[in-house]
Amino acid sequence: MQPVKTSRLGSAELPDGRSVERYRLEAVPFALEVMTLGATVTALEVPDRSGRIDNVVLAHDRIADYAAGGSDYFGATVGRVANRIAGGWFELDGHIHQLACNDGRNHLHGGAAGFDRHCWSARRTQAAGEAAVEFERTSPADEEGYPGALHVSVRYTLRPTGEIELSYEATADASTIVNLTNHTYFNLRGAGRGDVLQHDLRLAADTFLPIDESLIPTGALHPVAGTPFDFRSGARIGSRLAASDDQLRLARGYDHCMVLSGMKPEEATALLHAATLSDPDSGRQLQVWTDQPALQLYTGNFLDGSATGPGGLAHVRHGGVCLETQGFPDAPNHPRFPSIRLDPGQRYRRTTMWRLAVAR
Ligand code: GLA
Repeated sequence: MQPVKTSRLGSAELPDGRSVERYRLEAVPFALEVMTLGATVTALEVPDRSGRIDNVVLAHDRIADYAAGGSDYFGATVGRVANRIAGGWFELDGHIHQLACNDGRNHLHGGAAGFDRHCWSARRTQAAGEAAVEFERTSPADEEGYPGALHVSVRYTLRPTGEIELSYEATADASTIVNLTNHTYFNLRGAGRGDVLQHDLRLAADTFLPIDESLIPTGALHPVAGTPFDFRSGARIGSRLAASDDQLRLARGYDHCMVLSGMKPEEATALLHAATLSDPDSGRQLQVWTDQPALQLYTGNFLDGSATGPGGLAHVRHGGVCLETQGFPDAPNHPRFPSIRLDPGQRYRRTTMWRLAVAR
């Protein structure tokens, strides 16, 4: 059996005095690094077919850059509600709740200081043959406008098979809404080594949610058949980006909620194989399994090369692809979308699995 271990990498101090702790989970030849700021994934090391190990997730060079006010959410745990809420408001039991609007007139990824901007507490958890770290925090009532205090945890577990489990739990002391995701950008060639346009992507999505000019779902479910959104039998990510398609034009690429097929959220007990991303050059492959009803496909359309990561490598447009498993965006404002409501006495539980493999 290959060695599996979790170690503390020490801490870094943010300009505002907060201390950020970093951890490294190892199951040779794989390694995952995470930190308490935003319960964020900062590195994922995977061998290619020749055994060369690269980091395959986009990261900032310095920890302080994560707190500096950018809007790329590299590797972060996003909440209380990931994605957009139109006009930043929603109604719950007859009360209107106004959330922080940090994306034009909309609420995005939990607001001005979402879960990605907070330092979580961390503890290593021990189980045979696994390396794991669990982060938790309590989001107070009214944080960014959300009703009810929410206690939330996310656990990262790395297994020797190259499997990484992300498990989320939350409970609330008053009725609220919750929709957590992880915002890792993958580049299986190695972060900073150009764009992901030559990666192959397969998605188990028969429909997607069309958006308007502020990237809010119109409410319709559109079949992917005959559109650039059909990844059901696999396609190069870049092969249809230049297609003349209104939806691609609105988002300057893919930035859409793909509805995962064959899943009724209320029956979600087992994980569904949602996506396979593979890079023919390196032989690296990532499978995403989840019990979430949807996956936001985002092709790093807003990256522009101005920011650099470790080693001075630039984050170019389409330099990474996010496969954000989550509930539907703007769910509270669309009665036909699966509910993201959480009531006291209930427990929110979601699991996403990243399975890494290398083609020989
Ligand atoms: C998400 C959104 C995008 C963008 C990125 C962060 O995935 O859908 O529009 O805001 O986060 O830059």
